[in-house]
Amino acid sequence: MTSNTGNTDLTTLSLTALFELYAEEYARLRELFPYQDHWRQIVAELGLETHDRILDACCGDGALTWALTKLGVPPPLVLGLDNSTAMLEHAAAEPYPSGRAMYLLSDLNAPPDEWAPAEFSAKAPSLNITKIALINGLYALRDPQQALAGLAQVVRPNTSLVLSTALPNPDMQAVLREHLEQVAAKGGDPAAEYNRLLGPEGVFKLIAAINQEIIRRGATSLHFLDEPTLRQMLDAAGWQVMRSQIVYAGQNVLITAKKR
Ligand SMILES: C[S@@+](CC[C@H](N)C(=O)[O-])C[C@H]1O[C@@H](n2cnc3c(N)ncnc32)[C@H](O)[C@@H]1O
Repeated sequence: MTSNTGNTDLTTLSLTALFELYAEEYARLRELFPYQDHWRQIVAELGLETHDRILDACCGDGALTWALTKLGVPPPLVLGLDNSTAMLEHAAAEPYPSGRAMYLLSDLNAPPDEWAPAEFSAKAPSLNITKIALINGLYALRDPQQALAGLAQVVRPNTSLVLSTALPNPDMQAVLREHLEQVAAKGGDPAAEYNRLLGPEGVFKLIAAINQEIIRRGATSLHFLDEPTLRQMLDAAGWQVMRSQIVYAGQNVLITAKKR
């Protein structure tokens, strides 16, 4: 695929390179009503307070701190891990109270003592992480169950994990349709909005192309898992599922679990 992506053939990029490219436009997703609703639900499930210390695994461009600020949640301490330098640069630039967010380059495919070693090596429990968010990242990890077990390893019993991940065969058109329905319900012009997003000069063309490429890789290297499989994996990785709901225009499952 080369259309609307400059001269880049997305199929040739490594997954990390694909996310590096995605980082430049990723924040545009925040313009979509279903994305905003998704984050409202995530933040509600997290139930954060200022004394919380949240590990944001696969933190991307800092959408969590954006959502917390937008929703007026008193700022917990956020420790974001991601293996994309470009995503982390955007995260660090996200407005958030000084000293309340820290972003570290970490490969979550590796065991926890190799994640940002200075912080994690052999002393993870002393980090006193009280909650974990893993939003739209599990599918990208090489061995999702191993990654969930790694996360369980760095926290104390009863710590909550809020996980949102795409179900099999994700359909971004469903997200777009729901967005346009909400535009219409709020008195906007859905045709004009469609044109703004995906018309000839559409601001979402790169995002759409990258999402299409990510979904294409779902048939081979990525993991879009159904809810029963996720429950089994969480259980085997040391997490007890407390709640589960379908979100993001029916494309994601949002699960809250507790470390046993
Ligand atoms: C779709 S984005 C989600 C970002 C953010 N959690 C959100 O919901 O907005 C997926 C993120 O996972 C990160 N990622 C993929 N593989 C990773 C790995 N092995 N270790 C750490 N982060 C990874 C990517 O760099 C990207 O920022």
